[in-house]
Amino acid sequence: MVTENFWRRLKRPIMAQAPMANVTDAAFRRIIAKYGKPDVLFTEFVSADGLLSEGREALLAELIYSGSERPIVAQLFSGNPEKMFEAGMLVKKLGFDGLDINMGCPDRSIEKSGAGAALIKNPRLAREIIRAGKEGASGLPVSIKTRLGYNRDELEAWLPELLEERPAAITIHARTRKEMSKVPAHWDRVKHAVEMRDALKSQTLILGNGDVMSIAEAKEKAEETEADGIMLGRAIFGNPWLFANSRELANESVQKLMRNRLPKFSEITTTYLTHTYKLENVRMFFQFASAS
Ligand SMILES: Cc1cc2nc3c(=O)[nH]c(=O)nc-3n(C[C@H](O)[C@H](O)[C@H](O)COP(=O)(O)O)c2cc1C
Repeated sequence: MVTENFWRRLKRPIMAQAPMANVTDAAFRRIIAKYGKPDVLFTEFVSADGLLSEGREALLAELIYSGSERPIVAQLFSGNPEKMFEAGMLVKKLGFDGLDINMGCPDRSIEKSGAGAALIKNPRLAREIIRAGKEGASGLPVSIKTRLGYNRDELEAWLPELLEERPAAITIHARTRKEMSKVPAHWDRVKHAVEMRDALKSQTLILGNGDVMSIAEAKEKAEETEADGIMLGRAIFGNPWLFANSRELANESVQKLMRNRLPKFSEITTTYLTHTYKLENVRMFFQFASAS
């Protein structure tokens, strides 16, 4: 079966909502999809190994999504190609539009299993994992989310390794693992990543990520770096309207207007209540599903 690579049909610059554990859960994603939909949404990261273990039920809840979120990409992490293969099959079976592999998370417990940012230190394994994910998800576009390097900026060596595996997209959180989120993101390196990709004649899309707080700023970054898209994370905190009208923000005066447009109090409270209700619904649905 030929599966469409949805990334190709998205208008540029692509505006993506970053995956954020304990934030962009199923309930919150539904709210975002309703009030201000980005071009692509990701699940919170989920352990591929965990999805294949005894305790899989609890993790499956993190892969609940609704059609309103499409295109929706499942983000997984693993340091084990076989697990990524099997979990990739599951992602395909669950009907996701894509699989994203986390190669940037600095969490020690994740790194201990060789996953997340630890893969930057092991490009050979990283490539095996991408191949396994592609094979398992058979035809679904596979993307990567990573950083500039581990202890230092290794973009020059790291990016070509990833590009060799021809992922559909690579999101670069423009900091190293060591920098965590403590220094401003190095957006000049996103620009360089685009130049490297072009020089290598790769078809992989490049998205930049780090510190972008508004759609207007995201558009500026896309213009400066010529990246195919921008991923915004923390900017959504308390503002599920972030992506509303992002396509219309074409000229300066409209941008100013939107920056100054605060939702009414009633809009905020209604959205807050809807979020709580959906969160409870997802929880109850899952409890019911795992009990039956
Ligand atoms: C609370 C929180 C949870 C996160 N969880 C994930 C995750 O599950 N997967 C991932 O790839 N990145 C995760 N990140 C990193 C974000 O996706 C993003 O790369 C980072 O916040 C920088 O972007 P920003 O400055 O726009 O927030 C998380 C960040 C935060 C703040």
